[in-house]
Amino acid sequence: MKKYLFLGLSLLMLFSCDPEQTKTKQYVVNGQRLYMQYCTNCHQADGRGVGKLYPPLNGSDFLKDQAATICAIRYGLKGEIMVNGQLYDQPMPAMNTLKPLDIAEIATFISITWGGGSQRVTVDQVNEILSQCKPVD
Ligand code: HEC
Repeated sequence: MKKYLFLGLSLLMLFSCDPEQTKTKQYVVNGQRLYMQYCTNCHQADGRGVGKLYPPLNGSDFLKDQAATICAIRYGLKGEIMVNGQLYDQPMPAMNTLKPLDIAEIATFISITWGGGSQRVTVDQVNEILSQCKPVD
């Protein structure tokens, strides 16, 4: 019994001391704070959106396209889009004040909390994607 307890505890310690895990957790926490500040007005605190006006992020199939998601956060959206088989056609404003780190944190929060993801979205990934976004309209 004692042996298993010891094994369990050491695994727990290993897990919680892993710097990568800690960093990912930090991204989720900061990302949630930024989400509350910049996104809840439309997408709501539970990420479920508002009717046909604001699409959900919670369970959204759009999130599978990581590049499109990150470009949308930075540059906004215009025109029709499909989310979970439902058509949306309202503009989403660009967020010029968000830095790549902010976007990485928001994207990490959304992906892990509502998109079934487990990995952190890195600042390098965000920079790479932002350099290739197509302009809106
Ligand atoms: C003023 C309202 C508004 C705010 C604020 C806003 N959005 Fe949106 N968002 C929209 C609308 C409207 C659409 C649908 C755009 C369309 O129809 O072309 C959308 C679409 C999206 C999509 C793609 C569709 C989906 O639901 O998966 C993502 C991802 C997204 N928003 C993320 C965010 C994030 C993250 C923030 C905060 C940084 C944010 N939005 C802030 C209104 C908003």
